Amino acid sequence: MSAATRELILQRINKHSVFPNLPIVAFKLNEIVNKESVTYSEIEDIITKDPVSTAKLLKIVNCSFYGFPQKISTISKAALILGFNVIRTIIITTPMMEAMKDIDVALWEHATCCALCSGLIAKKKRIKNPEEVSTAALIQNIGFLFIRLEFPLRFFDIMKKIKKENISLLEAETSCLGINHAEIGAELARLWNLPPKLVEAIRYHHVPSQSKNYQDISSVIHFSDILVSGLGVTSSSDIFVPPLDKPAWDFLQYDQNELVKFLEDDESKMLWDFSARMGEEFLKRDTTAEEDEKARDITPIVNIKKKLTFLQKRFAKVADDPVLVSIMKIIAKHYIEEEKAACQQT
Ligand SMILES: [Fe+2]
Repeated sequence: MSAATRELILQRINKHSVFPNLPIVAFKLNEIVNKESVTYSEIEDIITKDPVSTAKLLKIVNCSFYGFPQKISTISKAALILGFNVIRTIIITTPMMEAMKDIDVALWEHATCCALCSGLIAKKKRIKNPEEVSTAALIQNIGFLFIRLEFPLRFFDIMKKIKKENISLLEAETSCLGINHAEIGAELARLWNLPPKLVEAIRYHHVPSQSKNYQDISSVIHFSDILVSGLGVTSSSDIFVPPLDKPAWDFLQYDQNELVKFLEDDESKMLWDFSARMGEEFLKRDTTAEEDEKARDITPIVNIKKKLTFLQKRFAKVADDPVLVSIMKIIAKHYIEEEKAACQQT
């Protein structure tokens, strides 16, 4: 049955009837993609004919995850700084990202947080075009959204299976559909004529060691996904930290000290801010009115207990991986120190 479902999904990708339509400007950009040389004014001419796409593009390029110190106010400047491929990818994927924000705001936050984290790691690891890495990270789970929008009943089956059999998202997707969201996302990206680098990074973001040409980008996105999920910025449908692809970890050559340093860096502060917000959401969601009343006098203790419980829950499926357990401990230590500081203030 799953082989037939896989075929059905691949056919639907080519039709993508329900999935948000691409703006005309995206097709026009794709028309010039194979031209030998494209000027910035040519790109600007095409994009500015569509004021809605122009405004959306400028809003995204000024997002914190690209980390530009000054506001980018024109398309030609955005194209100059980010490159044609990044601009084109943003235009093409914006309708999907908007749909993601409407349908699953937590998944959208996970995407933006991964984009931020990937950009930071790419810069630290001196990977060329970190903006391209951020962009690929931003759209890595577009296949998950596709399943949710195009196959809602199957999506429901996948969620049920994860709960019932305590298996990972990828395992449940493969079992129910014969295909997973990474492969679906890559097929969509290929259909949209996105750069091969991005197609491959999306396809292998859960198994970067299988990436032939872009193991660097795939590994950065893979590890960011793990770190961001570990920090609690996860989709509401899948809270678990995905398993670590060991060769990718070796490829990144992080040691414990470097990782702690990375997480304590000023630039990583935003990751913790995201984490704290999602933690608060969890505390709100998981606390009854009676518990709230009881907790009034001992809030920090209740909070830290709950935060650590949620942290452990997120890492439950990867508790036998020493690297991931050490990441969990770094996060736990941060929570405890944060809580101590909060107690001292009150
Ligand atoms: Fe994924």
